[in-house]
Amino acid sequence: MATLGMTTQLDAVGNLRGLWRPEGARSNRLVLGSHIDTVPDAGAFDGVLGVVLALEWIELAKDLKLPLAIEAIAFSEEEGVRFGVPFIGSRAVAGRFDPTLLALKDEDGIDVESAIKAFGIDPGETGKATVHDDAVGFVEIHIEQGPVLESEGLRVASVTSIVGQTRVSLEFTGRANHAGTTPMNLRRDALGAAAEWITGTEKLAARTEGLVATVGKVIVRPNAGNVIPGAVELSLDVRHVKDFVRRKAIEELVSLASSIAERRGLSVEWSKQLDEPAVPMDERLTAYLSDAIEAAGFPLKTMPSGAGHDAMVMAGRMPTAMLFLRSPGGISHNPAESVFEEDVEAALLVGRKFLERLAAEVR
Ligand code: HGY
Ligand code: MN
Ligand code: MN
Repeated sequence: MATLGMTTQLDAVGNLRGLWRPEGARSNRLVLGSHIDTVPDAGAFDGVLGVVLALEWIELAKDLKLPLAIEAIAFSEEEGVRFGVPFIGSRAVAGRFDPTLLALKDEDGIDVESAIKAFGIDPGETGKATVHDDAVGFVEIHIEQGPVLESEGLRVASVTSIVGQTRVSLEFTGRANHAGTTPMNLRRDALGAAAEWITGTEKLAARTEGLVATVGKVIVRPNAGNVIPGAVELSLDVRHVKDFVRRKAIEELVSLASSIAERRGLSVEWSKQLDEPAVPMDERLTAYLSDAIEAAGFPLKTMPSGAGHDAMVMAGRMPTAMLFLRSPGGISHNPAESVFEEDVEAALLVGRKFLERLAAEVR
């Protein structure tokens, strides 16, 4: 960012931000960016590719001498892996930072507030992280993380909407007991109940068009081979492009957990970490992006995003659009995640056309 002549700052939640404001630029800025955190054992492109391409687009604007002020943001925390709640960085930028987030703890008992302080910044300043009202819009460039573009032999797409997402944690509590002396009919096996519920979750999603449901995290206690599990904690991630379908699925899965627990003589508790509605992208900004894709010589593809992005939070603050790049093998959140150089080049060609169009509009 410094090499590009941008002023830089680390805001109160650890977002790294740079501002490029050329001579004669209007006050209203374009915001570009994506996240620099990721998931365990991840690939090398989810999020960070969008940060690097944001800087490349600024370099294009500079070379084209466009009178556009552009802010680039590397969001500090989007995945929600460490503290269980995603979008901490973009919530602060979008003016949606709920101070109760500061009390969330990671698996080592470190809360968000202490983590921010340990990073050498003041969590009391989160209000200053909010972007000013002068933004003309936010564009996030991101890998698709799915199989669609590759299956259609396409390099890029503009995103129509981002599916709604609910994250819930459940805990089945039975009774730890001896694996050798306890007859099957006298057990209150928390893992047996969890296994039945996970299978039920998979069956519900498989028979509901467009619904995805994932149990990605299971913590078994006491987690010893010769002890009947007394307690099991599970994560649930449910997504659908229609909010009522997603919410109905959550209700069904919670009542399934209760009925399994009751039949097996266990208890079950659940708490919601996230309930993010589906978010449509801004029509005008997306039209500019779609025009830029065609002007750059690529077939126009528009599609919803099954993955969540900071764009779904930023859309509450300013017009927002997303550009997707093809995911080879349709794989992501996996070291095999990759991107084709020719698609990165396509994103640069699209960027040139998009920035020229936007500069003409906001001149
Ligand atoms: O989980 C997601 O959808 C994204 O990777 N944060
Ligand atoms: Mn991700
Ligand atoms: Mn991402």
